[in-house]
Amino acid sequence: MSTPVEPRLIVALDFPDAAPAEALARRLDPRTCRLKVGKGLFTRAGPQLVERLQGQGFEVFLDLKYHDIPNTVAGACRAAAELGVWMVNVHALGGRRMLEAAVEGVAATNGPTLVTAVTVLTSHDAATLEEIGLAGPPREAVLRLAGLTHASGLDGVVCSPEEATAIGERFGRDLLRVTPGIRPSGAAVGDQQRIATPAAAVAAGCDHLVVGRPITAADDPAAAAAGIAAEIAAAG
Ligand code: C5P
Repeated sequence: MSTPVEPRLIVALDFPDAAPAEALARRLDPRTCRLKVGKGLFTRAGPQLVERLQGQGFEVFLDLKYHDIPNTVAGACRAAAELGVWMVNVHALGGRRMLEAAVEGVAATNGPTLVTAVTVLTSHDAATLEEIGLAGPPREAVLRLAGLTHASGLDGVVCSPEEATAIGERFGRDLLRVTPGIRPSGAAVGDQQRIATPAAAVAAGCDHLVVGRPITAADDPAAAAAGIAAEIAAAG
């Protein structure tokens, strides 16, 4: 019997409420993908939805991007770990003490939950970064914040495929790279700016690939997910 391979595809359940999210989950296979629950769906459907998805065998990335004072973030990360999610994330802009507190919050549960950090939102460009006091090329801010994430003991970063190679060159296998902006060739780009195909993202060193609309909006989401998972496996 072959050893099961860890799924590297994360399907973003970007739905307004639980019913369509669960309908899609029923058509997906937890051996092929994990699921991402973000702010909108979580605010609507809450931890009960996460528990039901986990009950179906899925590992869940709780994408709530916490950014608050250290004590508050520690409590939020602890609650996420107690919910049993596979991964939770924070904003690296919260600073070293907040990042360390996120790790401590999860560690307090002795659970296996991974903690990752968003460096710079991909919706920023040089002009909007300067407006908030981060002058200089966005790439420098990304690498500086990835360094802070690494030094604070987190498991990885959320980054664009374009940043993945530079982060890997600097931090090696110490930082997981979780990457949205994935588009199979021929798929609609939508509002994403910096995109890569699944195979190119794997070649750039991305560990976990977040895919939303190419799966959620497909006529056959199960076939779309299986196709992308196969492309990732072939490239890896
Ligand atoms: O539909 P699409 O494949 O573009 O979905 C990508 C998912 O990844 C969405 O849930 C989006 O919020 C999320 N994301 C992103 N860019 C980031 C962080 C998260 O697209 N920098």
